Amino acid sequence: MSTLRVAVWRGDENGHYQEFDVPRRDSQTVLDVVTYIQRHLDATLAYRFACRVGMCGSCAMTVNGTPRWTCRTHVDKVARGARLEIAPLANMPVVRDLVADMREFFDKWARARGRFEPTATREDDFARVAPDSTARREADAGIECIGCGVCYAACDVVKWNRDYLGPAALNRAWTLVNDARDGASAQRLAAVAGDAGCHACHTMMSCTEHCPKELSPTRSIAGLKRATLGALLKEDS
Ligand code: SF4
Ligand code: SF4
Ligand code: FES
Repeated sequence: MSTLRVAVWRGDENGHYQEFDVPRRDSQTVLDVVTYIQRHLDATLAYRFACRVGMCGSCAMTVNGTPRWTCRTHVDKVARGARLEIAPLANMPVVRDLVADMREFFDKWARARGRFEPTATREDDFARVAPDSTARREADAGIECIGCGVCYAACDVVKWNRDYLGPAALNRAWTLVNDARDGASAQRLAAVAGDAGCHACHTMMSCTEHCPKELSPTRSIAGLKRATLGALLKEDS
């Protein structure tokens, strides 16, 4: 059986790589490799996962320098020779080993008003939203985000400006701006219009290139740029 040489980040930001030998298997994922190390070689290794099927967004790590969801990333696709280097997601503090601290990431969802704010009561009828309306199609385009943080880790503007809301929070804001049932669009547009909001995006597309769900935060951010400018012009007129 062949062997994979795996360098794994240990400790906090000031940590180091530790090397392990892991047996290669057919259809092995990067998460399988990390789990093998934790179960058979070093039980103290800290990492995070839940669903193992690409739904929960908790397993993202940096694999050979690139942010990825590890439960759906096959070793065959990413190993360089028989080597893998696995580290926590970039642009976030490190809790320990492969666990990034995502509080800042989710705090920014709250700052971007990334929470549905309903207008209807339980007495009201269901909202009827035409499936082919522009707003519905815009909302659908971003709705499948699993909050994995891959786009955030890939974004250079986040690296340079830690206040920047980042692609995931802005994608979420755009989804809600297009939700006909939501009542906080004006406040949401105001929340994302500031210096650290959508206009700070340099349209470098890294978020879109890396998103494992094939969403386009870049496109959502472009929508927010148009909508915030539109709101400003309306205020002035
Ligand atoms: S398009 Fe904008 S949000 Fe996406 S990676 Fe580039 S700068 Fe960041
Ligand atoms: S937009 Fe894509 S990469 Fe970013 S958090 Fe959502 S699913 Fe993950
Ligand atoms: S473990 Fe849930 S997305 Fe990977």
